[in-house]
Amino acid sequence: MTDPQPLRVVVINGSPNEQSKTRGLVTATLSGLSQIGRKIDTRRIDVYRLGRGFSEANNREDVTPEIEDELRTAEEAELLIAATPIYRGSYTGLFKHFFDLIEQYSLAEKPVLLLATGGGEKHALALDHALRPLFASFQAHTLPIGVFASSGDFDGTTLLNPRVYSRITVALDDTDKLLSHR
Ligand SMILES: Cc1cc2nc3c(=O)[nH]c(=O)nc-3n(C[C@H](O)[C@H](O)[C@H](O)COP(=O)(O)O)c2cc1C
Repeated sequence: MTDPQPLRVVVINGSPNEQSKTRGLVTATLSGLSQIGRKIDTRRIDVYRLGRGFSEANNREDVTPEIEDELRTAEEAELLIAATPIYRGSYTGLFKHFFDLIEQYSLAEKPVLLLATGGGEKHALALDHALRPLFASFQAHTLPIGVFASSGDFDGTTLLNPRVYSRITVALDDTDKLLSHR
């Protein structure tokens, strides 16, 4: 019997920074995902790297072929991990811009795991008040548990807090169950 195809996992990191706590949270999450016993094929899209072909595009027709490839990769994911720092109580502008260029119905029913980082914990509910409605507008299937980490949970960009790791484990358990039912 041939091996099943790997699960196509695509991560969007909405941080404008190369040294990124959000990227650290993503790394911890992907490490957990690699332990649930599925073959996975992961692609990371860091929006800060996408440059002017991305930031100057007002609509999909304007993007360069390289950006078209990134957008299509996200649209064709079997699991999307949507990660962003919280800025002014919501996702970053770059994160939103990426999704403004995504085709309206391409994320319908797609499993989406929500991750966010913030300076403190007071905006943890932005996961539910800002990110979840964005993906509802695509009719995507957001996982019920998102993961939020604040600055004190990190050493630099490395996630340390065991409680956040526990939350990742629960979120990935839900993700695995959802994927198994498909
Ligand atoms: C312009 C700006 C606005 C911010 N607004 C918030 C906020 O509303 N709530 C919050 O908890 N943190 C806020 N922060 C802190 C960042 O969310 C936090 O440092 C985050 O972990 C940075 O992620 P990164 O290292 O991946 O870029 C803000 C930071 C900046 C630069």
